[in-house]
Amino acid sequence: MKNMESIDNFLKAHLKESRLRHTYGVRDTAVHLAKLYGADPEKAALAALYHDSYRWLKGEEMNRCIDELGLDKRYFDNPSLAHSKIAAIMIQKEFGESDSDIINAVCYHTTGRDKMSLLEKIIYLADAIEPSREYPRVDKLRALAEINLDRACLESLKNTADFVKKTGSPLDSDTTAAIKYLETNI
Ligand SMILES: [Fe+2]
Ligand SMILES: [Fe+2]
Repeated sequence: MKNMESIDNFLKAHLKESRLRHTYGVRDTAVHLAKLYGADPEKAALAALYHDSYRWLKGEEMNRCIDELGLDKRYFDNPSLAHSKIAAIMIQKEFGESDSDIINAVCYHTTGRDKMSLLEKIIYLADAIEPSREYPRVDKLRALAEINLDRACLESLKNTADFVKKTGSPLDSDTTAAIKYLETNI
């Protein structure tokens, strides 16, 4: 894939060490899950490399990007959601990415969404369980990921929902929709 080398060089130039390590961890985990659940490992690797490619933007720059790219105002001052929406557009502009499944996997990697595709689930989960992640229950989630992708995704989405509720922030509507979708389809 032609973009694999370009995005890798871009990441090395822009991401700090820990974010780069996280990204490679997501890539390796996503490739593993793709092989396990019958997705395309190359697409999984590329989507993983793209997923946090604009996480380095600072608050002000991120808000300006949201404005310039015409993104929903709900992402203002919310870098943990905004970086995925910005990356989904920038990979098309800067790297000519045109695969809609890859673009959506990047776009929804922080929230999930209704009717998530196999690749979207893989990137969402790989982001949550890659080897450098450390939080309570991550080992349980890693074990579940080996046997049931949907259940592991649902668990991870619920963890996110619990965390967001504790912070007092509203839960993104895409996460609510993703939880509902998986609960009714498992
Ligand atoms: Fe991210
Ligand atoms: Fe990430």
